[in-house]
Amino acid sequence: MTQIEAKASVMEIDLYVGGKSSLEGVSNVTKLSSNENPFGPSPDAQEAVKRCVHELHRYPSSDHSALRNALAEIHGLKADNIICGAGSDEVITFLCQAYGGEGTEVLYTEHGFAMYRICALAAGSTPVVVKERDRVVDVDAILAGCTDKTKLVFIANPANPTGTMIGMAEIERLAAGIPDQALLVLDGAYAEYVEGYDGGAKLVEMRNNVVMTRTFSKIYGLGGLRIGWGYAPRAVIDVLNRVRGPFNVSNTALAAAEAAVRDTAYTEKCRADNARLRAWLSEALAEHGVPSDTSTANFVLARFADAEEAKACDAYLQKQGLLVRQVAGYGLPNCLRITVGDEPGCRQVAHAVGQFKAGAR
Ligand SMILES: Cc1ncc(COP(=O)(O)O)c(C=O)c1O
Repeated sequence: MTQIEAKASVMEIDLYVGGKSSLEGVSNVTKLSSNENPFGPSPDAQEAVKRCVHELHRYPSSDHSALRNALAEIHGLKADNIICGAGSDEVITFLCQAYGGEGTEVLYTEHGFAMYRICALAAGSTPVVVKERDRVVDVDAILAGCTDKTKLVFIANPANPTGTMIGMAEIERLAAGIPDQALLVLDGAYAEYVEGYDGGAKLVEMRNNVVMTRTFSKIYGLGGLRIGWGYAPRAVIDVLNRVRGPFNVSNTALAAAEAAVRDTAYTEKCRADNARLRAWLSEALAEHGVPSDTSTANFVLARFADAEEAKACDAYLQKQGLLVRQVAGYGLPNCLRITVGDEPGCRQVAHAVGQFKAGAR
């Protein structure tokens, strides 16, 4: 038996459990478990991927300048303040690697995204979890939870899996109130779903202690390619680039992401379709006696009477070929997170929940 031992904090990590993607014996599943774009990526991004077939033997760009320039142009940002990662997960990893470590604390909220804890422990930091208020990030609780060891404070806005968000004034209060040695990380994985919201980009520019992370896995429909990015003060970008591998993002992912971000009409269509279908889905669920908080993202957190009912409903949905997400691991055992699908997907899941509530098993 090997005598080699991993660091103690690594052994505290519970493996990330992703949304189910298949069901044994069922060929035609509707996947509403991972907050993917049901319409897939922009046709321009698909074409860009096809063109990459001829370049697969080439190493990708290591400075990602074409994608950073496109992001800067489209979002009105500074290209030098952008870093790209293999999904925003990798940017979160860079932050924990660079600023975390033994003797430091990484703070997030009770229903916060699972990767904050995983990356904090992997880096050797102590995870600190603070309460939310009725499934909404509570700025006062975060400020009260900060200590002189706090290095990173993570909030997703909109948040996963609750779908709720807090306003810019609250975020500004948070950024102003955290200790001097800490960074506030605004995870904007779902920011594009909120009309007129910049994910906190302007706040990043106004302060020296705020970082924004974004992804191409959600509205841009490129989860399979693993590409995301971060926006931060130059001093932070310089730090993160030290821990980033030179070829961390593939040429295919870079090309697809650039085409996707430039196709603003497609993104806008996806945003509008999601808003319409999300309103329909949450109303249909409510009519069946299943309430949810007003969601600002591409999923709805459906609340059942208790954990037993949520589990039974999930089992019934699976029998109908519908995959949604149990979120007991997020401290929400009585809930199921349902991604907003296309129209047939939304109708199917609402209908099946209705049948379940009417007694079907
Ligand atoms: C809040 C939040 N942040 C980050 C991510 C990571 O996204 P990716 O690594 O695919 O960019 C997700 C994915 O589900 C998420 O929900």
